[in-house]
Amino acid sequence: MTKWFQHYCNIFCRYKTYYLVFAIIMSTIILFYLDKSYTLIPSFATSQFYDTDDQYLEIYDDTVLLNKTKRLVLLWTTFFKSMYWEREIRKSLMTCSEQCEVTSDRKRQREADAILFHHGDLNKKDLPPFRVIKQPWILFTLEPTTLIQGNMNWWGRIFNWTMSYRTYSTIFNPYGYYVNNSNVKPVEYSKIAYKNRTKDMMAVISRCHDDARRYKIIHELSKHFQVDVYGQCSRKKLKCDYHDKFYCLDPKEIKRYKFRLAFENGYCRDYVTEKYWSSLLQDIIPIVNWKEHQNNGHVVPNSYINIYDFTNLSTAIQYIKNVNNNESLYDSFFEWKRSYKAVSSMYSGFCRLCDRLHQPFHLQVYKDLEKWFKDDTCGKYNLFDGVFRHIDRYLFNNLHR
Ligand SMILES: *[C@@H]1O[C@H](CO)[C@@H](O)[C@H](O)[C@H]1NC(C)=O
Ligand SMILES: *[C@@H]1O[C@H](CO)[C@@H](O)[C@H](O)[C@H]1NC(C)=O
Ligand SMILES: *[C@@H]1O[C@H](CO)[C@@H](O)[C@H](O)[C@H]1NC(C)=O
Ligand SMILES: *[C@@H]1O[C@H](CO)[C@@H](O)[C@H](O)[C@H]1NC(C)=O
Ligand SMILES: *[C@@H]1O[C@H](CO)[C@@H](O)[C@H](O)[C@H]1NC(C)=O
Ligand SMILES: *[C@@H]1O[C@H](CO)[C@@H](O)[C@H](O)[C@H]1NC(C)=O
Repeated sequence: MTKWFQHYCNIFCRYKTYYLVFAIIMSTIILFYLDKSYTLIPSFATSQFYDTDDQYLEIYDDTVLLNKTKRLVLLWTTFFKSMYWEREIRKSLMTCSEQCEVTSDRKRQREADAILFHHGDLNKKDLPPFRVIKQPWILFTLEPTTLIQGNMNWWGRIFNWTMSYRTYSTIFNPYGYYVNNSNVKPVEYSKIAYKNRTKDMMAVISRCHDDARRYKIIHELSKHFQVDVYGQCSRKKLKCDYHDKFYCLDPKEIKRYKFRLAFENGYCRDYVTEKYWSSLLQDIIPIVNWKEHQNNGHVVPNSYINIYDFTNLSTAIQYIKNVNNNESLYDSFFEWKRSYKAVSSMYSGFCRLCDRLHQPFHLQVYKDLEKWFKDDTCGKYNLFDGVFRHIDRYLFNNLHR
């Protein structure tokens, strides 16, 4: 017995420091891995925020009024590695009351009235070679705060304006909007076709473990309704095989369902995406998961069911059951179509930008872009990113003194 013990102790005790170090490294790696995939340890954003972006800015006294009829916007970067956005922006500028032009020809930099950069495609080594004082450099970003990596202040005082779905951006660019439409024909409710909708709910989800933990809610709902999840996280392996990936499913197939779970992947303020807007275009009632401050006040009234408008999930489920089983109640969610038209677009703010460039504006620069991004309501559930952010913040604070 003692011999046995001694034999093993010889091996273990002699190298115990190595074993210990090895064990610690291994368990740290495993913990990081599990946390990254399954978000074990929550950490939170500041949840302190302001209604405007003034406190992140330095505003100068000088005012600029450009003196020409047509303004030129230069796209300096790609948009998710593609130049496709140039065509989309051109299309959207054609609908504006003022005249604006877009180009990606860098040779026209001196002539340009504004330069646009997409956050995800920024490259510090590839900035414009010179600055024209009157030419605002605009940061365009559609990502929620939870997905912003690194410390944005590494960019320094570079950007003058922001353009995003956040209402406190210089240029508000939501994922969609609606317009008064006195010309709309009265809704033909036969087209809503309640009776044709034999299935309960569908969802399209590609990010399985997210900051909003959608799966917990979907799991609860699936105890009461038939829920079909499409996309990479589908247990039933239901694929998005419609040729237009944006829609995932054939529009006819979508109209077989009564509801779409248009759950966002995070609870960031103002964060309402095309999941909601495309549901409106697809004639299906979106069920959303908007927490406080997430509804930016620019969504269509009575067009959705928000589970967080109820005291608890059971009351929400009871209400959804009522809507599910009551044709006139179901149809009432389409009443808005009598007077409004919904538009889903990632480039919704370009007429606002064009107007702005035609008005006199103050010179300004973002002095604390990091805070502009991270003063938010959404939780960030990831040890890895959290630690990385702290190291980054520490380095920044200590190196930039
Ligand atoms: C604007 O430009 C026009 C012609 O280029 C000029 O006549 C006019 O004085 C300018 N206005 C201002 C305020 O600079
Ligand atoms: C639509 O028009 C009505 C009255 O004309 C107005 O009260 C409302 O604010 C308008 N809504 C939008 C989104 O323009
Ligand atoms: C209802 O479903 C039937 C059979 O799938 C289809 O022919 C019809 O066009 C649908 N009606 C509407 C209004 O979508
Ligand atoms: C949910 O809320 C309702 C009414 O506010 C209450 O009667 C019910 O007990 C609650 N259910 C749960 C599970 O908390
Ligand atoms: C269906 O909903 C309507 C309101 O849209 C309500 O007046 C009616 O009583 C409901 N019918 C049933 C059977 O619950
Ligand atoms: C943009 O910011 C820079 C400071 O980096 C400043 O010199 C310039 O005047 C600003 N331009 C505008 C249009 O605000």
